[in-house]
Amino acid sequence: MSTRRPPSCKEEMAAEDTITRHSTSPSFNDILGRRLSRRHLLKGSAAAALAASLPPQVPAAPDFSSSSLGFTELPHGLDNRLHVAEGGYRAQVLLRWGDPLFANAPAFNPARQSAAAQQRQFGYNCDFTAFMPLPARGGADLRGLLCVNHEYTSSRMFSHSPGLSREIRTGVELAAHGHTVVELRQRDAAWEVVTNSSLNRRISPLDTWMRLAGPAAGHSRLRTRADPEGTRVLGTLNNCAGGTTPWGTVLICEENFHSYFGGRLADPSEQENHQRYGVGPRSRYGWARFHPRFDLGREPREPNRFGWVVEIDPYDPTSIPVKRTALGRFRHESATVTLGQDGRVVVYSGDDQAFEYLYKFVSHGRYDPKTPSNNKDLLDEGVLYTARFDEDGRVHWLPLVYGEGPLTRENGFSSQAEVLIETRRAADLLGATPMDRPEGIALAPNSGRVYLALTKNPARKPWQRNSANPRAHNRHGHILELIPSEGTTGHSASKASWEIFAFGGKRVRDIPGLGPAGWFACPDNLACDDQDRLWIASDGATSASGIADGLWACDTRGPGRALSRHFLRAPRGAEVTGPCFTPDQRTLFLSIQHPGGNWPDFHPDAPPRPAVVAITRRDGDTIGS
Ligand code: FEO
Ligand code: CA
Ligand code: CA
Ligand code: CA
Repeated sequence: MSTRRPPSCKEEMAAEDTITRHSTSPSFNDILGRRLSRRHLLKGSAAAALAASLPPQVPAAPDFSSSSLGFTELPHGLDNRLHVAEGGYRAQVLLRWGDPLFANAPAFNPARQSAAAQQRQFGYNCDFTAFMPLPARGGADLRGLLCVNHEYTSSRMFSHSPGLSREIRTGVELAAHGHTVVELRQRDAAWEVVTNSSLNRRISPLDTWMRLAGPAAGHSRLRTRADPEGTRVLGTLNNCAGGTTPWGTVLICEENFHSYFGGRLADPSEQENHQRYGVGPRSRYGWARFHPRFDLGREPREPNRFGWVVEIDPYDPTSIPVKRTALGRFRHESATVTLGQDGRVVVYSGDDQAFEYLYKFVSHGRYDPKTPSNNKDLLDEGVLYTARFDEDGRVHWLPLVYGEGPLTRENGFSSQAEVLIETRRAADLLGATPMDRPEGIALAPNSGRVYLALTKNPARKPWQRNSANPRAHNRHGHILELIPSEGTTGHSASKASWEIFAFGGKRVRDIPGLGPAGWFACPDNLACDDQDRLWIASDGATSASGIADGLWACDTRGPGRALSRHFLRAPRGAEVTGPCFTPDQRTLFLSIQHPGGNWPDFHPDAPPRPAVVAITRRDGDTIGS
């Protein structure tokens, strides 16, 4: 019996910044120093000595002249209000949970909730937003469809209706999930909801049927009593982030789908699969009492019908949303779409759990800008890859193709459908790099570089570090930059290079040029504006660092590269999700999810209400400039 005791927490912390025999990865300080040297070399100054001296260091005065950003940053803080940086910005609370979406929808009444009312109202916990201009082709910026995910519900939404029966609450919860499509127009510099638009739509797991498409559609492991063919599913769950396609559709991701199912599993052959995704006997929601499909004893394969990316055509309210199984099944956070140099469609997506992987899908077919109908099933055929980050700064994309490498019958896969249903296990076998929770992914439109938020991973031990995830006990997260290789097909190529773009947490606060509130923690959703600036929304900064969650912005190139600046502070308890710009860059939409206090109404008889906010400038200029 070994007498070696496991390292104490303190010892593990000390090991964070030293290269141990267990790991070949460089330390946090090494990488931070390297980043600083690169930036200062770019500026033409001798910075190696400076980098070597960090930390500790006397905070330098922020050199805001080096950045393209034109606002004065907010201080850190924590209170019940939403704050935006100085510079003539205005924040309009546009859509709150319960706001009517249709002309005949009932007004929000937190004491008399019902599924029927909720189906006509804005859902709970808004997340991803996409602004889709109207008309569909060549639309002006003053009119558009706002597409918004409703990720999950919490019991606090019933704090003003304690007498509701469990059955009614369950119906309201189901109806408050899913997605909203709603028409907006701008009048007198303010946005308004067009409640009588024929394009408005609520999508929910209560009553919206979806089609399963791609290699896993129809597979026996997707069949249930309600769907003996395995081709149609009622609804979508836990829609977190998403993406938009060049052909005008919206992709919404099913993230923490596992938490809806429970009970005693009736089919032991699914045991290992369900375990790998966290599907177990205990359900967080308890919906099975009224909706037996969430009971693993009744429908052991129902969870296999979730964890996909759903494609929605927001311009056609009668269209049937499609779950695109070719993009794999995992806790999808985002689905960021671009094109390779060869015209093939590439979708980047992360699996948001500690030690899970980054993926990309590359279509077989090429995008056809002239004939939109030719693009409608592009996401059904192609190759899904997972990422292996190597120490030499290369990322290798490993194909998840049935019959190739370890993805064979010997390892329990009998078809491409099974590789996709068990995407995580397939990626394990391929040797993908375990990451610190891949969340938002943004693409810089000019440079073509990709930014990946790794929100945090306190569970990473020193010996589990790798060069792309170099911090043990990573409580504050970091952001990676992926650079398509020159001379290749770009995003569709099998290799790229990567760098660490920024670290979260207080320890980076003394970087020269970073303002006192420029450091962030726990990056989650990301967006790039048309000048390739990165906008970083955070989730969990309060528990990690004692500051409110918020939104930070920074350049991705030039002397202001990675010098993040604090732009918006969320009310206490809330995270910021789904930042999205209008094409003219004059409005920034974002969601305030799970606010505390009683934001935004500040009414003693109203619960806090998650809401979408529109940020504009009084002078009408572009955001951030
Ligand atoms: Fe729903 Fe990964 O946050
Ligand atoms: Ca998220
Ligand atoms: Ca998160
Ligand atoms: Ca979240």
